[in-house]
Amino acid sequence: MNLVDHKERDAKKVERMFSRIASRYDLLNHVLSLGLDIKWRKEVARETGRINCRKILDVCTGTGDMAMELCRFWKGNVSIEGIDFSHELIGIGKKKVKKANLSNRITFREGDAERLPYKDEQFDAITITFGLRNIHNRLRALKEFHRVTKPEGCFVCLEFSRPTNTFFAKTYPLYLTKLVPLVSKMLGSDPAAYQYLGNTIQDFPLPENLAGLIESAGWKDVSYKKLANGIVAIHRARK
Ligand SMILES: C[S@@+](CC[C@H](N)C(=O)[O-])C[C@H]1O[C@@H](n2cnc3c(N)ncnc32)[C@H](O)[C@@H]1O
Repeated sequence: MNLVDHKERDAKKVERMFSRIASRYDLLNHVLSLGLDIKWRKEVARETGRINCRKILDVCTGTGDMAMELCRFWKGNVSIEGIDFSHELIGIGKKKVKKANLSNRITFREGDAERLPYKDEQFDAITITFGLRNIHNRLRALKEFHRVTKPEGCFVCLEFSRPTNTFFAKTYPLYLTKLVPLVSKMLGSDPAAYQYLGNTIQDFPLPENLAGLIESAGWKDVSYKKLANGIVAIHRARK
């Protein structure tokens, strides 16, 4: 049985939910992943280094952590656009980017991943971190990413998965459904939102199935690697 009713991934509902948790979003990310989210984003940035990038699109950019990591990895020699439909999260991202003096490298745009406001073949690489599982129609979004990527460009996706280790596999659902909402409440966020996010992780396709979905959107050379005992997976593909 699906834990997340398809209607719950309705774009408007998801947008409102992320806007509600915006102010505590970064803090909870770091606390709940024990800081590993930073290491995982660095790995995504390294993956983009397989090709020569000048323009990168970070979809579902949220507060811009991935966009900033890309900027650090490419030592400022790229321009990055972050797109997200949450006005509040992007607002936080803009402030962070300004404070880090990166406003000339990173721009933000409000928009929907399923209907990207760009012409065909604009970007060398597309990244998405912890975003795909929240998107209502993932196949449509993956086709959009493909459309706006230049020929031979690349796609890198970081997303939660399911632990392979038997002990972790048993305790992980408890962590997601009990501990995550509890910690989010203790840190002043919205436990219901974090309960929902935990459920979306359990419902998300396994890496091999996600690879198939990416392929069916037109991407080639699709491969993936699991990190942190399978808690997250990085998928990569070429146009
Ligand atoms: C879990 S957050 C990830 C944020 C960031 N990429 C990170 O690594 O922390 C998911 C983000 O996806 C955005 N999102 C979900 N569906 C979207 C859509 N259809 N179009 C644009 N943004 C979307 C949400 O607003 C939210 O900022």
